[in-house]
Amino acid sequence: MNNSAFPEGFVWGAASASFQIEGAASEDGRKESVWDMYCRKPGAIEDGETGAVACDHYHRFREDVALFKDIGLKAYRFSIAWSRVIPDGTGAVNAKGIAFYDQLVDELLAAGIDSWVTLFHWDYPMELFYRGGWLNPDSPKWFADYAETIVDALGDRVKNWMTFNEPQNVANLGHGSGTHAPGLQLPRKEIARVIHHILLAHGLSNKVLRNAGSDHKIGHAHSGWINIPADPNSAADIAATAKNMFDCSFWHPQKFSWWNDPLQKGYYPEEGLEELGNDAPGIGPDDMAIINQPLDFMGINYYGGTCIKAGQDGEPIDIEYPPGVDTVYPKWVVQPQGLYWGPSLLHERYGRPMAITENGLPNLDWVGTDGQVHDPQRIEWIRTHLNAIHQAIQDGADVMGYFYWSATDNLEWAEGFRRRYGLIHVDFNTQKRTLKDSARWYGDVISRNGMDL
Ligand code: BG6
Repeated sequence: MNNSAFPEGFVWGAASASFQIEGAASEDGRKESVWDMYCRKPGAIEDGETGAVACDHYHRFREDVALFKDIGLKAYRFSIAWSRVIPDGTGAVNAKGIAFYDQLVDELLAAGIDSWVTLFHWDYPMELFYRGGWLNPDSPKWFADYAETIVDALGDRVKNWMTFNEPQNVANLGHGSGTHAPGLQLPRKEIARVIHHILLAHGLSNKVLRNAGSDHKIGHAHSGWINIPADPNSAADIAATAKNMFDCSFWHPQKFSWWNDPLQKGYYPEEGLEELGNDAPGIGPDDMAIINQPLDFMGINYYGGTCIKAGQDGEPIDIEYPPGVDTVYPKWVVQPQGLYWGPSLLHERYGRPMAITENGLPNLDWVGTDGQVHDPQRIEWIRTHLNAIHQAIQDGADVMGYFYWSATDNLEWAEGFRRRYGLIHVDFNTQKRTLKDSARWYGDVISRNGMDL
């Protein structure tokens, strides 16, 4: 148990994403995104579910914000549906789309909750996909123009921004394995090109947000492979862990350093470039300077990590499922200490403030005969992960906040509605919301600023 509170001003929040909650997919001028297309693909989404209604948040956001206030959330991370505000991706702005986010931000402000806005959480406008999507060399500029529209509309009240959510998955799953929208299976040369364009889009939009006011805090929300030393007392295991986490001698679109070295240091890892050879992206003379913009915080989405031990030669050996470690569906390991080692090792490499922009437990929660949702495992999950963050802060990592994923149960992408992450239970037949035990417990933690977890 920690016997000191979290640092003053620590941001206590919960997160969501537009496509997973909003619904109203063809209302008020919204056009399709690649996820609408992907949902139409037979077998792509469990049980053939779609985002057409989801949590109907578009119509029920006031009720949702009232629940966030009941819990005691201090911050709410949500994303903008690009094709709701600019239906064709570029050009005409949809006033009704803007009005929705405008009202949401006002409602949150009135409830005393800070908006943390993600510009892009995967729902890429279909009209831009028809034009080549992230493969098109104009795609970074399209994104920067979109960022300008959003910051013009909301920037007087929204001060915390994330450019991209897990672009690693957009590249790897969306354009590599084809298991996320748009469902492409491209060779690595084209994936590296997609990544380069997303990095440029990050840089250009970062500048746009920065120019909108010196009080704007700009970051991202990235995933990556977080590693945990098998023996936390072994210097060799810790060294092997860091080596594995940042090593780019084998190129993979999921690697932290392939994204964050360019973003935060201004260059791609040399070994990765060598390995890619002719498949490396074409890098224009100004590209790396555009990509390498000041970053106020590094967002980390964490669900589980891989244990590493050092071999005889010091080289890392993966132990994916260490003995005695539990797993949750679908076999993710329960490794709270990843939120000690991730922030600690990322701090050593990048020395930047961090926010845990996602972390949560999927479970099969239901409303009991007493009308309540009892989810002790989620409470244990949050408690142990927060304890790990607290320890990392004690040991020097600068972690500014924690966003539980997710505020409400929602559409878990290809997994449909079965996997419930929410602090708030949603009955998808009736749209009835019920606060889970974990929501009340989390509210209590927030009120104590994390003391005595
Ligand atoms: C992250 C995403 O990958 O993890 C979220 O940013 C997502 O949008 C969450 O819902 C949970 O992932 P999964 O794989 O269970 O859908």
